[in-house]
Amino acid sequence: MHETRFIQLHVPDAAQLAAEAVQGLQASQAHASPKFFYDPLGSRLFDAITQLDEYYPTRTEAAILSAHAAAITDAVHGAVGAGATMIDLGAGSCEKAARLLGPFQLERYVAVDISIDFLRQALVQLQRQHPAVQTVGVGLDFSSRLALPAGLVESPALVFYPGSSIGNFAPPAAVQLLRQARDISAGGALLIGVDLLKPAAVLEPAYDDALGVTAAFNLNLLRHLNRLVGSNFDLRQWQHVAFFNADADVSAGRVEMHLQARQALSVQWPGGERHFAAGERIHTENAYKWTRPHFEALLHEAGFGRVQTWTDPQGWFAVMLAQAA
Ligand code: AVJ
Repeated sequence: MHETRFIQLHVPDAAQLAAEAVQGLQASQAHASPKFFYDPLGSRLFDAITQLDEYYPTRTEAAILSAHAAAITDAVHGAVGAGATMIDLGAGSCEKAARLLGPFQLERYVAVDISIDFLRQALVQLQRQHPAVQTVGVGLDFSSRLALPAGLVESPALVFYPGSSIGNFAPPAAVQLLRQARDISAGGALLIGVDLLKPAAVLEPAYDDALGVTAAFNLNLLRHLNRLVGSNFDLRQWQHVAFFNADADVSAGRVEMHLQARQALSVQWPGGERHFAAGERIHTENAYKWTRPHFEALLHEAGFGRVQTWTDPQGWFAVMLAQAA
């Protein structure tokens, strides 16, 4: 029976985060990083989103992993062998990885998330269910830079980045993160979930559902900022806006989420304020959607060689295994 180890790398403190949020609010086109969605209520609202009929990515990815379980397991064994380490990026509840530890015959599990507080409970439980697996929790905000302490991963590892979280990154930033993923894999491989380009009629409801859960998730960012920076956003003055923006690139597009002022208003916080005209927006998220060849090209650009891809029958989502070149 192994003991779970925890390593907290650079945690931005509340003052640093507040300064970052204020900077976004003061920009001529106001914006806020999607990381500000995820306070405790925001994480629960995201969980609720994954259960919505309109939000296809979570269940489609799970269906691909189960429909092609044998082929994916064979490919993973071919790439990193049995007894390898899995590095789970944005591990959270560790639920997706937990289903793969057995089939992939992994011996070590390194869960990475922005704060080890999110990982603690999940890892202790996972360690109980898989006593032979050596588990490590790493607290790290890898949205700025992904690197692990020297010596933590020395033999070819499997980096796991599911859920199309890579969609938050514009192509150049995505390539940079993928390159860092290749580096930490120590000559291993990457198993990644990628949301594919599809008609706006499918994409837009996934980010603007009938029940209003995504609207609540987006508006909750203002509640979080009120606590973090001491601002006085009145949520009733703001409206959730989500739309597909196809002209970002020819073989990619993105769903954009914004919060739009319903009327002219101003917001105050200690040491500052901002006026918003009626209809003015705060840009809160980009969710990039790629074609399969475009994303495979990004993987090659990031230093991966062989790429194997599995999709659902509708071609809505892809699971790709890429070997470090
Ligand atoms: C967690 C970034 C994958 O973009 O689909 C869901 C976040 N935002 N609904 C996504 C999200 C609104 C989600 N990711």
